[in-house]
Amino acid sequence: MSVFDHTPGRLSALDAEVVRLVRPGGNWRDLPADFDSRRVEQIRRSAAAGDGSRSTYYGKLALDRPSYTVSTYFNRPGNGCYIHPTAERLITVREAARLQGFPDAFRFTGRGRSRYLQVGNAVPPLLAYQLARSLTAGCVIDLFAGAGGLSHGFAWAGNDVVLSVDNDPMCIDALRGDGHVAAAERLDLGDPDATEALVRLAREALGGRPLATLVGGPPCQGFSTAGKNLAADPRNRLVFAFLEAVEALEPACVLMENVPALMWKGRRTVLDELTRRLGALGYEVDVAILHAEGYGLPQLRRRLFIQGRRDDVPAWPAPHRQVVGPAQPGSQPGWDGNDLRPRPVDVEEAISDLPATPASDPDEAVGYARSSMSAYQQWARGELIAGDLIPELAFVTRAAQLRLEAVA
Ligand SMILES: C[S@@+](CC[C@H](N)C(=O)[O-])C[C@H]1O[C@@H](n2cnc3c(N)ncnc32)[C@H](O)[C@@H]1O
Repeated sequence: MSVFDHTPGRLSALDAEVVRLVRPGGNWRDLPADFDSRRVEQIRRSAAAGDGSRSTYYGKLALDRPSYTVSTYFNRPGNGCYIHPTAERLITVREAARLQGFPDAFRFTGRGRSRYLQVGNAVPPLLAYQLARSLTAGCVIDLFAGAGGLSHGFAWAGNDVVLSVDNDPMCIDALRGDGHVAAAERLDLGDPDATEALVRLAREALGGRPLATLVGGPPCQGFSTAGKNLAADPRNRLVFAFLEAVEALEPACVLMENVPALMWKGRRTVLDELTRRLGALGYEVDVAILHAEGYGLPQLRRRLFIQGRRDDVPAWPAPHRQVVGPAQPGSQPGWDGNDLRPRPVDVEEAISDLPATPASDPDEAVGYARSSMSAYQQWARGELIAGDLIPELAFVTRAAQLRLEAVA
């Protein structure tokens, strides 16, 4: 048994020194005050000015905790918490993929930034699987699919992912190489004629079957432009292109993923417009911020989901592990602060079977360092399926959640 993509980002001599000096669970604060780095100096100054603690910057992972959010910059130590907990290097693409809930069998493609984008942009497939379980299975189309975090999870939950679309050829290669989706097509969804092309592709892919769910994670800057035509603003174009696709394809359910910032006060105009228009199209709509660690992921990742349903009221899977410091507890469906749930999966359980010595090329196969020490590793290695790893799920509707809050 072997894995691919086991290569880390390269370190400058200065960054290699940082990697040596920071302790597991630590960050830039572990460096001596006279450490000669402009980036560290910049971080010190902004932390002193009260612009946040910058506590993940130059962070080293701790074996006994989940990771912080895996972004698309895990090749840079100064941009997050990406230093390996015990080896003197950054985490590899494969280790980041493990933290993101991708199984080892999944192969990423391309050079340069490609693999970092494919991993860091994804909805963790294991989380997508649990979201999919709350919806009626059927044919699914995934827009802005990336390497297919959502596509994967929906396929595991018994859906037929008939079409995945992205404008990045490397993502299309990764999707086609994998076999969980029936068709992957490159299309610029920001193009004014894209909806027409999409409808043609969708008709072909569906072959007369109804579309159960349209899923997608369009990039959205979520600017507040109150009083203006939000859909005409080029910064919002892709998110409204998703809405146009909903109008044209008329799925029974809609699931859109984005960053929680879409819900922040003063930036809510895009979210409000989206939910309003989905409602006008006949969908029951709900918005949630899900905490990945509550769903068995070894990562503190918060993402916003909009669910629209014509067949029923929106329902969400309840977290089955502890949620760490929810910023807005009311946005996480099914979270009642019940600490009797097991603690989150930690970094050791997620990656400790991968070798400390990385590969010299992402397409080089490397063997596991040891036998699996956790159910999570067994799942990543293909020894368990998602349904064996994830316990029986409970589903909650927002109305039930609000009742819970009223009782508390
Ligand atoms: C946040 S990622 C989506 C990740 C995906 N949902 C997953 O789970 O893996 C956004 C994706 O939108 C794609 N994208 C950006 N602009 C696009 C456009 N104009 N047309 C089609 N896809 C686009 C990017 O290539 C990227 O893969």
